Amino acid sequence: MSELVKFSNQGGIGVITVDNPPVNALSPGVPEGIQAAVKQAQTDDSIQALVLIGAGRTFIAGADIKEFGKITSGERKDRFSLTELMLAMEDSSKPVICAIHGTAFGGGLEVAMGAHYRVAVPSAQVGQPEVKLGLIPGAAGTQRLPRLAGVAKAVEMCAFGEPVKAAEALEAGIVDRLIDGDLREGAIAFAREILAKGEKPRKPRERNEKLAATPSTASIFAAARELARKTRRGMMAPLAAIESVENATRYPFDQGCKKEMELFVKCLFSDQSKAMIHAFFGEREVAKIPFLPKDTPVAEIRKAAVVGAGTMGGGITMNYVNAGIPVVLKETTQEALDRGLATIRKNYANSVKKGRFPQSVMDQRMALIRPQLTYDGFEEADIVAEAVFEGMALKKQVFAEIDKVAKPGAILASNTSTLDIDEIASATSRPHMVIGHHYFSPANVMRLMEIVRGNATSPEVIATSMALAKKLNKVGVLVGNCRGFVGNRMIHCYGREAQFLVEEGAAPEAVDKALYDFGMAMGPLAMGDLAGLDVGWRIRKEFKHLEDPTVRHALVADALCEMGRYGQKTGSGWYRYDENRNPSPDPEVTALIERLTKEAGIERRAIGPDEIVDRTLYALVNEGARILEEGFALRAVDIDIIYLTGYGFPVYRGGPMWYADTVGLKKVYDRVCEFEARHGKLWTPAPLLKRLAEEGGTFAKMDKEK
Ligand code: NAI
Repeated sequence: MSELVKFSNQGGIGVITVDNPPVNALSPGVPEGIQAAVKQAQTDDSIQALVLIGAGRTFIAGADIKEFGKITSGERKDRFSLTELMLAMEDSSKPVICAIHGTAFGGGLEVAMGAHYRVAVPSAQVGQPEVKLGLIPGAAGTQRLPRLAGVAKAVEMCAFGEPVKAAEALEAGIVDRLIDGDLREGAIAFAREILAKGEKPRKPRERNEKLAATPSTASIFAAARELARKTRRGMMAPLAAIESVENATRYPFDQGCKKEMELFVKCLFSDQSKAMIHAFFGEREVAKIPFLPKDTPVAEIRKAAVVGAGTMGGGITMNYVNAGIPVVLKETTQEALDRGLATIRKNYANSVKKGRFPQSVMDQRMALIRPQLTYDGFEEADIVAEAVFEGMALKKQVFAEIDKVAKPGAILASNTSTLDIDEIASATSRPHMVIGHHYFSPANVMRLMEIVRGNATSPEVIATSMALAKKLNKVGVLVGNCRGFVGNRMIHCYGREAQFLVEEGAAPEAVDKALYDFGMAMGPLAMGDLAGLDVGWRIRKEFKHLEDPTVRHALVADALCEMGRYGQKTGSGWYRYDENRNPSPDPEVTALIERLTKEAGIERRAIGPDEIVDRTLYALVNEGARILEEGFALRAVDIDIIYLTGYGFPVYRGGPMWYADTVGLKKVYDRVCEFEARHGKLWTPAPLLKRLAEEGGTFAKMDKEK
């Protein structure tokens, strides 16, 4: 046995306890330890049955994800196969019972399915979430699960990765009994019952009765494939998982396992899985702020105040009350306040209708909001979140007012998307308490929160903001105070190139399609129409004086706005929209583009999807490299997480910087140089990109060396 696995004899029942904190992951030593215990029990006459249980807060929560990277990088050569362990459990002459609490996910559930029986506490959850890392179960999960739960449940669990609660697992046949009270005692009692009945343990791999193909089996797989193509667009793992479960209905167990292993290895070594594992660790990495001392105090946020109940203020208010934090919500007019509140109510009512939570939860949340037209109660707030119109003069006026009413320790957070946090802070007597909390629309849905530190922002305010993001169920990423911060500064370059491509001859729908096919949630022009083209138009007007007259500027978006084409909200923008907001290309836009480009002397030509993807994506990467060099993002992975959680970047490409690493920085750099030669100084390569390309480096390696 090993340190990680303990064995004891409880009056004839051998109890194998996995003790690998914090989550009993299947790190090297764990499977071997369990296998040794099972083997030892076979020849020990004092043992009649075995119980496998986890110490601490959970059963085996899953594989050790770090090990996947070690295998693909070649660092780890051996591959202890869980298959042997599960066969040893299944072939045990003495009944084996797994006792599940907490979570049995991935390899954890696969191990449990190697046992003859499974019992669980009612709060336990089981699942095969491998697809979320671009993988499929690799230890016979796709073969044993359909035998226990039937193909429909197995396909759902393996292809979509959502957890299943104990009661549902019982109903599906994954779990044999729920245990109220002490799990270990309950499992031992269950073992004695089995022994008393004298039942011969049944091997899950031999339970073929739920596999029998019926006409409906084919439709289950067809429906799952359709759903995967729709909701997991571009991802290979869900389709591989469906194929593997289908194999269980076509081939004997051993052959099904062999095919599962082939599919697993294909997924494991794919760029998709590597990208998704990068994203998984990235979300944890961004929470680490290297320059903050570990003991930086974190203030508790018990009460909040929000200024502005518009699109963003309403969503921000929902974030707070969803986390149980009461909000005083201030507006300037009763009409705006009523409108804001009505939107919040409508959003919650939709959730109730969809069954996400009951009416009582909605009522509780609504009761936490105190709508008003004054600053009453602001003196009690631990944080004031500002979301008024974008404009420096107004922001400064509002911050000066907040400064007068907020208590000394309160954090003053602005949701500005472009304005200088330091200048906003200068309107207060406490710039060290001012910070940007930049949410993304819809603020109650999008997971990203850019946390913008100003020159004076105190470490406590940063630490508290990071902790608050977590509490609000957001991914907080700390960024510096430059124009557009990180996400929007980069998206500006991406949008610029999308428009230049249109001017140079690509149809708007061709630009959008190329990027949608790349995996983006939406094409850039359709996204502009959704967000409202007038937003950028107003910002461009505000910053007109800062524009560089020696570089090219996009022509069409401003012209669309001047025609009143603001996007979806006005029924037309880059596209024309019908009453259901379905877009169609508009000849009027084509004519406008042709006229403006002719006047400007821009030569139009045929442009293919590869150039569209390179021009827009490498514009992101080049600006990202500049941002890194200037220190406005802490690490390349921070930029990736911003794009994955706030901009609809496909998770299976890992974010723009990871994508560039995957393509190869030399190749990216060469293409950037090509664009520079053709399009001028907007494409000057970022010095960091040049250096890494020449050194054969990657952004990921640079992060590791930090
Ligand atoms: P909005 O126009 O929907 O809402 C602004 C609200 O603030 C209006 O209801 C207005 O009545 C209210 N307001 C104005 N002055 C006020 C005052 N002195 N006291 C109280 N309320 C006041 O604008 P939206 O889109 O919500 O934008 C708000 C802020 O969020 C802006 O700084 C914007 O740049 C930023 N932002 C917007 C995003 C978006 O997608 N709309 C995304 C991220 C940030």
